Amino acid sequence: MPILKPVYPLYLNNEAQQPNADLEVTDKFTGEVAFRVAQADAATIDAGIAGAVAAVEPMAKLASYERRAILMHCVERFDQRFDELAYALCVEAGKPIKDSEGEVGRLIDTFRIAAEEAVRMTGEVQPLDISPRAKGYQGMWRRVPIGPCSFISPFNFPLNLAAHKIAPAIAVGAPFVMKPASRTPLGAIIMGEILAETCLPKGAFSILPAHREGADLFTTDERLKLLSFTGSPAVGWDLKARAGKKKVVLELGGNAAVIIDRDADLDDALERVIFGAFYQSGQSCIGVQRILIHREVYDRFRDMLVARTETLVAGDPKDRATFIGPMISEGEARRLDGWIQSAVAAGAKLLCGGRRDGAMLQATLLENVPRESDLNCEEAFGPVAFLVPFDSFAQALDIVNDSKFGLQAGIFTRDLFQALDAWDRLEVGGVVINDVPSYRVDNMPYGGVKESGLGREGVKFAMEDMTEIRNLVIRRK
Ligand code: SIN
Repeated sequence: MPILKPVYPLYLNNEAQQPNADLEVTDKFTGEVAFRVAQADAATIDAGIAGAVAAVEPMAKLASYERRAILMHCVERFDQRFDELAYALCVEAGKPIKDSEGEVGRLIDTFRIAAEEAVRMTGEVQPLDISPRAKGYQGMWRRVPIGPCSFISPFNFPLNLAAHKIAPAIAVGAPFVMKPASRTPLGAIIMGEILAETCLPKGAFSILPAHREGADLFTTDERLKLLSFTGSPAVGWDLKARAGKKKVVLELGGNAAVIIDRDADLDDALERVIFGAFYQSGQSCIGVQRILIHREVYDRFRDMLVARTETLVAGDPKDRATFIGPMISEGEARRLDGWIQSAVAAGAKLLCGGRRDGAMLQATLLENVPRESDLNCEEAFGPVAFLVPFDSFAQALDIVNDSKFGLQAGIFTRDLFQALDAWDRLEVGGVVINDVPSYRVDNMPYGGVKESGLGREGVKFAMEDMTEIRNLVIRRK
């Protein structure tokens, strides 16, 4: 078992610094302090932003092969430190070890994709002579880095969702300051340790755990040209309102739905829905929350789901048999427990689970959940899902759209035309056919509509946000 250090630094302008060890990070299963991390104050964040401003020009001057080499160095080092990274996630996020290993694999994918994209950024040559006044004019455009970027990353994928900001920034040559989630800063700190081994120009990166109160500069400082935030809708939209003139990208939450149509392969759908609803204790923005089942197969699929859910092993995330670990905190588990109890008081039926011990909440299924309940309308972000019967595919699409969110939706159907109707009609950032909404590969466009966010990640798409188009016009006499 890899050993974690007792104390970790922050990274300011590419360098490890240990001004304090103020941030206590707990093992989310035992609740004990696992290690301490340095915490940045406003002056340190200000110094990181100043460093990023100074690094704009040297970063922009890096050749694409140099940016690719830096990213490939990270790929190699993540691979060498695979077990340590997975163990760190398992401890600081309470993420079951198999899910933690899966996330390290995705971290490596994300950096490798960025290394490939770094040498593929192209522009366009554009004839401008579309009318007599433009005769003799020619244009061309290319992408240039947007400038210093501000990144705020969440607790649920401490490595890979930080990587979705860091790797594209390096690929385009944009310096950045990052605030990792205070409950899970270590993934990003280890990434900082590895980035510090590269020839990135001084100031190219700062990774600064910070108290929310001291961290306003990440949002409000006008030297920063882009804010990319992943986290809760309430926080995300508030940050956008305070972000001033900078571009804002928001990857927020949802109450994702999956449709099980009457022709679905139920055995196959079963395993995927169990995964989508309960992996890493449902703490994913695209975790399955609403399970829409055609009435003709409703009873059968409900019984299959309940029986399978009751077999899930809950316990210590370090144990390879564990499927359900703790939620990120007892407070979060208590909040969701309260939503379950209110839904039941309002007429919902508990099918299985529903018990809580500290931060451990059982995998829980319900039916007849009232439309107005928090469990239906808000993002559960925990190991809870509920079943809804439907009579026609069109009705199921309406139910999916009956939400203030719109991140991804999953559809189990064998009917190509219904799948295409869903792609046309669903108000979401992505539709997944024959799988759960929780499916994501790291090069695909990923993001939401409505209250689920603004903009798209997925390396190439984030690179577009981290650049501006710079046009060139040539007049030939
Ligand atoms: C998220 O929770 O927003 C990300 C889900 C994923 O990357 O799989």
